[in-house]
Amino acid sequence: MTHPAISRLLADIATAARTPIDARDRHMAAALAPHLGDPALLQGLECPCNPDRYTRHLLHNDPEAGYAAVVIAWAPGQMSPVHGHHTWCAFGVQHGWLTETFFRPDGGTARPISCLCRRPGDVSHAAADPAAIHRIANLGTEPAFSLHVYGVPYDRFAQGVNVVWAA
Ligand SMILES: [Fe+2]
Repeated sequence: MTHPAISRLLADIATAARTPIDARDRHMAAALAPHLGDPALLQGLECPCNPDRYTRHLLHNDPEAGYAAVVIAWAPGQMSPVHGHHTWCAFGVQHGWLTETFFRPDGGTARPISCLCRRPGDVSHAAADPAAIHRIANLGTEPAFSLHVYGVPYDRFAQGVNVVWAA
């Protein structure tokens, strides 16, 4: 049985996924925010860290509406590639601390320009823009867990989400 906390989260995500496309990333981040940090949210879900790399765990896939939500499990020291996005995206921290570094394109590479600590309850979002570049990292000493929603069905995640940059 789905935990009521998950059901409420998924209902708010579904509502945000119907907002105008040019502001959907912002609405999605706002939809995630009130749910984050609730210990019940991931209760009963299997979201283990993988010692080899950060790991996505599917939370909900809605191919008709064109989005999917995942939990990402980050062991200490794990990080995403430096990347922009083919699609809108939003994420928030459920547990632990993450560091989000922003970059600007500089020729064919990406140069860091700023860095923010993301704590439980914090959200971030971006429109579909390969030049809106960031990297998320767990630079702490404990595992971290974050919720992410992307504007493509789950079976398109491999090619339809990240645009990887050299940094
Ligand atoms: Fe990203």
